[in-house]
Amino acid sequence: MDKIVIRGGKPLHGAIPIGGAKNSALKLMAASLLSPETLTLTNLPHLVDITTMAHLLAELGVRIAMDGSAANGGHAGRAFNLTADTITSTTAPYDLVRKMRASVLVLGPLLARFGEARVSLPGGCAIGTRPVDLHLKALAQMGAEIDLREGYIEAKAPNGLKGAHVIFPVVTVGGTENLLMAATLAEGETIITNAAREPEVSDLAACLTAMGAQIEGAGTDTLRIVGRRELHGAEHAVIVDRIELGTYAIAAAITGGSLELLGGRLDLIQAVVDALHGAGVDFDETPGGIRVSRTRNGLRGIDVMTEPYPGFPTDMQAQLMALMSVAEGASMITESIFENRFMHVPELCRMGANINVHGSSAIVRGVDHLSSAPVMATDLRASVSLVLAGLVARGETMVNRVYHLDRGYERLEDKLAACGADIERVRT
Ligand code: UD1
Repeated sequence: MDKIVIRGGKPLHGAIPIGGAKNSALKLMAASLLSPETLTLTNLPHLVDITTMAHLLAELGVRIAMDGSAANGGHAGRAFNLTADTITSTTAPYDLVRKMRASVLVLGPLLARFGEARVSLPGGCAIGTRPVDLHLKALAQMGAEIDLREGYIEAKAPNGLKGAHVIFPVVTVGGTENLLMAATLAEGETIITNAAREPEVSDLAACLTAMGAQIEGAGTDTLRIVGRRELHGAEHAVIVDRIELGTYAIAAAITGGSLELLGGRLDLIQAVVDALHGAGVDFDETPGGIRVSRTRNGLRGIDVMTEPYPGFPTDMQAQLMALMSVAEGASMITESIFENRFMHVPELCRMGANINVHGSSAIVRGVDHLSSAPVMATDLRASVSLVLAGLVARGETMVNRVYHLDRGYERLEDKLAACGADIERVRT
């Protein structure tokens, strides 16, 4: 398994291009199931999770043509043409779903267009139990008959789905997206109350609208969808990845450097900008994106709680904790979205961080410096927080289990090395 080796202490300077959002691209790909015509997606990131979703859709019979290869620096996958004209299966098998929870997003589209779907239950996950009960309850409200049998969700709607008023008791990104896609082909009007407002949900709504869906309220907590008999083909560019953007902002901040993040948009990461500003980090808009720098000497500790968008994203919590580990004073980081999302804490502590977890909060007391250690993590954002810590640690940090990083960060080590980081991938 590959490892990443970092020799810390180099301030980062330069420009980093930010890719398309993984968490948007996966749902947009699933949306191709809603139409027999071709959906063209551009600005797709080149990531393992995207390949997993492509395998899943191909398994269902979606034809996928990739535009890439040499012209894209060897990356076969910046643009996909997805055509779901001949679906050969409505089963999402365990082997693919277990690799990636987002596979469950094929449920709503399959059910809406074909009246049936069989999707493996995603099962446990490193960041808490993460059930899909709210997806299922909402689809049942739209008339689906749902059984759980032998580890599979078996859903049927032989006469099609019917519009309904669904009130989500908690904000769920995936639940909102599954239901939104299902509602575009349901009979009548669907209202989703307490819908997720994440930019990726709005991106999906924009793509569905381009495919002929009628959707109002994207970006608010109430979505109104009037179902259509069918959707048509469209072309859509994936929104920029706000988590990749925020992660590199912290890379600039933690190393005391200055990075221009190309394609970055402040409005997508306002809560991160506000928090980091309080910690002593500066953000400026540039013609190509945004510039992040730490001009003042020290970083200050701040208190942050993760919340649904537009609050501080849970997917940035681990990276912020790495930053707070070397800030002056104490900070309290509270995780309100997922249980068990502090797996990076023991690893950061092995690098010399002073962090105590009390329930869903972590108290971070900033230390003068971190020291290198061999570390590993069991999830994507936890892994990248260890890379960020390695960028300032004294000595050589070895991050194991790099496959987590490859699920969400395209060419991470190349992008950091191009800005002066001493980082390399060791293939084993
Ligand atoms: C998505 C993102 C993930 C991000 C998360 C929250 C993708 C592929 N993943 O995950 O990176 O961290 O949003 O911003 O886009 N819940 C239930 N029952 C359900 C569904 C959710 O109890 O049926 C709970 C979850 O356990 C969690 C909370 O609701 O505590 C939010 O989860 P949700 O927003 O659904 O996260 P995902 O869509 O899985």
